[in-house]
Amino acid sequence: MEEKFKESEEVRKPEVVEESIWVAGEAVKKAPKMYGVPTGVEGLDHLFFTSEVQEGKVVKKLLGGIPAYSVTNITGVSDTGKTLIAEQYTIKQAERGEATAFITVEAPAPFVSVGLRERAKAMGVDFEKVQDKIVLIDAASHSKLRENIPDLLATLAYAIKNYKVRHVVIDSVTGLYEAREMLARTVVRQLFNFMKKWYQTAIFISQKRSGHEELTAEAAGGYAVSHIVDCSMVLSKELILTQAQSRIYKKPIGEMVRLFRIDGCRLCGHDTRTHFMEITELGLVKIGPALSGE
Ligand SMILES: Nc1ncnc2c1ncn2[C@@H]1O[C@H](COP(=O)(O)OP(=O)(O)OP(=O)(O)O)[C@@H](O)[C@H]1O
Ligand SMILES: [Mg+2]
Repeated sequence: MEEKFKESEEVRKPEVVEESIWVAGEAVKKAPKMYGVPTGVEGLDHLFFTSEVQEGKVVKKLLGGIPAYSVTNITGVSDTGKTLIAEQYTIKQAERGEATAFITVEAPAPFVSVGLRERAKAMGVDFEKVQDKIVLIDAASHSKLRENIPDLLATLAYAIKNYKVRHVVIDSVTGLYEAREMLARTVVRQLFNFMKKWYQTAIFISQKRSGHEELTAEAAGGYAVSHIVDCSMVLSKELILTQAQSRIYKKPIGEMVRLFRIDGCRLCGHDTRTHFMEITELGLVKIGPALSGE
């Protein structure tokens, strides 16, 4: 047995992967500069911050958006506003003159374009002026893209090069490992590494099953998504049915309350409280005050 082990060890001698070793001082020079990317969602951008040394004191400095080059997971059950946030983000980037690749896994591209046009209208942005900054990749209609991640990433790389794309939205990553959730981790890891390699700021939407704990980032596919990504945001909705709920949420029984929380962000400081969230009549997500009061 021992002999056999020796033999197999000889087949492939352990190799030093020298390029994997960094001295921190060198690595830090390669790191992209930290700044905030405005999201187009009212009440969200001021929830992220970094620290700065001013006159010998460490002070909090607002980032003004999600950290650039980050990968953010937005999760929640159905109808909690995930797609609306993704649309608002895309329109906001287009308005800022930056291109977004919107990978649609759930609805075919023409439907998504209608949603984007509606969101632009609600945000007071002229869609005609920004539409060329939005590149739709229709993985809903093309099963090859859904079932073969290398094909999807090759298509995305092509779009990034040809349209100078800086942002990627995937609605939803859950649709990329449908019925094969044991692959969730591998799929999300591949997508995450790709975003880093191409210096993209990315939003991955993931679906929660209603059985999953509310207001945690556990999405379909287990904890795979939230462990890999840089930031997680959780959206939820609750029907007020008891006096206790009515007191906590300051709303009458029978009404619905929408909640929002940043469940973690590795790249910068962030607000950790649970906030009220609203979807306006025009279909715009707004983050409201914290449950605990401002
Ligand atoms: N004008 C509007 N346009 C679109 N949605 C609106 C509008 N006004 C209110 N809403 C609400 O927003 C919800 C849509 O949210 P959204 O499509 O972003 O959900 P989602 O979290 O992406 O859900 P799913 O997981 O099913 O894709 C609707 O269910 C509706 O209650
Ligand atoms: Mg959706």
